[in-house]
Amino acid sequence: MAQRVPFVGGNWKMNLDRSSGAALAAAVAQAARAHRGAEVCVFPPYPYLEVVHSALAGGAQLGAQDCSDQKSGAFTGQVAAAMLADVGCSAVLIGHSERRHGLGERDPILSEKLRRAIEAGLLPVLCVGETLAERESGRAHDVIETQLRGCLSAHSEDAMARLVVAYEPVWAIGTGRTATPDDAADAHRTVRRTLADLYSARFSDSVRVIYGGSVNAKNAAELFLREEIDGGLVGGASLKADEFTAILAAASARATR
Ligand code: PGA
Repeated sequence: MAQRVPFVGGNWKMNLDRSSGAALAAAVAQAARAHRGAEVCVFPPYPYLEVVHSALAGGAQLGAQDCSDQKSGAFTGQVAAAMLADVGCSAVLIGHSERRHGLGERDPILSEKLRRAIEAGLLPVLCVGETLAERESGRAHDVIETQLRGCLSAHSEDAMARLVVAYEPVWAIGTGRTATPDDAADAHRTVRRTLADLYSARFSDSVRVIYGGSVNAKNAAELFLREEIDGGLVGGASLKADEFTAILAAASARATR
């Protein structure tokens, strides 16, 4: 098996407040120190980035849930990748389905966001995944491939060296319905095939491909047992310290296998 360090992200979405965010961050940092072997990153809402950064105290990484496709200037309400790096972020989510489908963000914009993330030195976690209608009509793999090509084709292999891809089927996000390990592994193979075709087999083998969509303390170990699944992007279960700790434990067990 390729030696890929597992990656676990906690996507807090638009939840928590200043004090509950700081308390959760401190618990996550403690858990990450106890379960070494996996790379751990939390993605709080923008206003809490700095307080969460302090509470993490280097025990886990800090990420943002989005960045602008623009560098700086008159873009009311947007946040530049360089600003995120400036307040301690080392990673950023790009193309989460709640932005693709909720806010209509398309691949060309996401490709520019990737460019900004790389320029700012942030690790980009690029999210892809099909809707239920797309899965039921047999188009899931085409959708994944099209999204990857649309976001990545303007970028070189070197520029994407730190890329993490999150496969997040839209129908599994926040629904309590998880993709089976077989279906997730199958989708991850499509991701790797596409990356090999866009770049190289070596690149494709080295990229972390993580699964997101109702990952929890109960199903994480089974998912992370699969060679194809290098960790998870966790929403709801990342808001509870105990659940997230169990997920980190499962990822770190994968690392030591
Ligand atoms: P969920 O969210 O774990 O609540 O399904 C995952 C995500 O949106 O990244």
